[in-house]
Amino acid sequence: MSSAPTKRYRVRRSGPLNGSVRVPGDKSIGHRSLIFGALGRGVSHITGLSEGLDNAATRQAFRSMGVVVESTDEATLVHGVGLRGLQMPPGLIDCGNSGTTMRLLAGLLSGQRFGTRMTGDESLTRRPMGRVIKPLRARGAHIAGTAGAKPEELYPPISIAPLVEGEALKGIEYSMPVASAQVKSALLLSGLYASGPTAIEEPVLSRDHTERMMLALGVPVQTAGASVLLDPNLEWAGGWEPFEWHVPGDPSSAAFPLLAAAMVPGSQVSVEDVCINPTRTGLLDWLRLLGARISHRPSGHGAGDEPMAEITVTHAAIRGSVAGGELIVRMIDEIPAVCALAAVSKGRTEIRDAAELRVKESDRIATMAHVLGAFGVPCEELPDGLIITGGAPLHGAQIESRGDHRIAMSAALLGLLADGESVIDGAEAVDTSFPGFVSLLRSLGADITEETP
Ligand code: S3P
Repeated sequence: MSSAPTKRYRVRRSGPLNGSVRVPGDKSIGHRSLIFGALGRGVSHITGLSEGLDNAATRQAFRSMGVVVESTDEATLVHGVGLRGLQMPPGLIDCGNSGTTMRLLAGLLSGQRFGTRMTGDESLTRRPMGRVIKPLRARGAHIAGTAGAKPEELYPPISIAPLVEGEALKGIEYSMPVASAQVKSALLLSGLYASGPTAIEEPVLSRDHTERMMLALGVPVQTAGASVLLDPNLEWAGGWEPFEWHVPGDPSSAAFPLLAAAMVPGSQVSVEDVCINPTRTGLLDWLRLLGARISHRPSGHGAGDEPMAEITVTHAAIRGSVAGGELIVRMIDEIPAVCALAAVSKGRTEIRDAAELRVKESDRIATMAHVLGAFGVPCEELPDGLIITGGAPLHGAQIESRGDHRIAMSAALLGLLADGESVIDGAEAVDTSFPGFVSLLRSLGADITEETP
């Protein structure tokens, strides 16, 4: 983040954590609910939407394109304008820290008859955008990025020139080099405006919220394993009716209280109504393999037929292991927190095939190696992951979040088990995904406070 740090956490060694909590709505599902609500024909009701800044960036982007979005105590009401009803925004769209906002909107806005320009904060302007720009251009979008650190790469700001009257995006068959739900979703959203089919194949299935929502709304999408096909010419009138959706709790946020319970002796923590879509449950599967005590009780379905459950974790000794391949895709956002767990696990934890972590809100491999080192945890940085040796005594550390919410929260987990006091600066980054993080941990018994430095 470009601005000066405005929040500091102080964390001290804590006794057992106990209780049952809810976490903010899933960020990925929140963005998509807003997008599909804005493009629907009428007023959609969304409950459980996160108040985090990332979802707020998407909400604000649609407001700037003429979509009325109202927040009441119970729900967010999105006055959808239909597939062709968005208006040209008066200025730059500011995506803040939200890569999902920028990449998904890049797809959606490529199909419009008005031009747009999108930018973001300092962290976002360092993130690669070629992965969406190149395939969108291949289907006829007039989209350009900005040169930056790597000569072959493109970065924000992104400019999109309008399609002219009679011009349309083309069909595309795209085999993605890296699994990415953001790229897949950008192509599917652009596919709503294309004259031909959108056929995408991923090396491993990434989170499939966009496909689930499209299916729920009657968009002609078919999925098979890691392949998806959207054919707008298949018996589809175009568009959809408004909906009432509930956004399930974010499993990537639930990871923090659940892992805190796994790490701190004597703890038991439950998180209610967490999204348990199988593309998001890599962490829970991995924890079970390592000897964690986890139970889950199904609690219905949310937006786009997403399954939800109450998850309970009880402290138990956990061993280190090797994580790689498809498991990494299913727990990509939880890996900083997994690194914290590895610090107190028995033996070595090896994380492989996770080079994507280098292009998240920070370079999460380098940042977590630095954080672990500061707490006294032996750790080796690999090009695509980390090797962490658990069991060393943790020492209170002074950490800077590097503008990355998940780094600040992972450092807080380590602070719960460290001697003395740990200080985490740049903790305002947590407001992107998990407003209320400190009060939630405190309600479970954690010794954590926040202050303005
Ligand atoms: C997201 C997809 C993931 C994830 C990100 C949110 C999404 O990134 O890391 O936090 O909502 O589509 P990829 O696009 O790299 O899969």
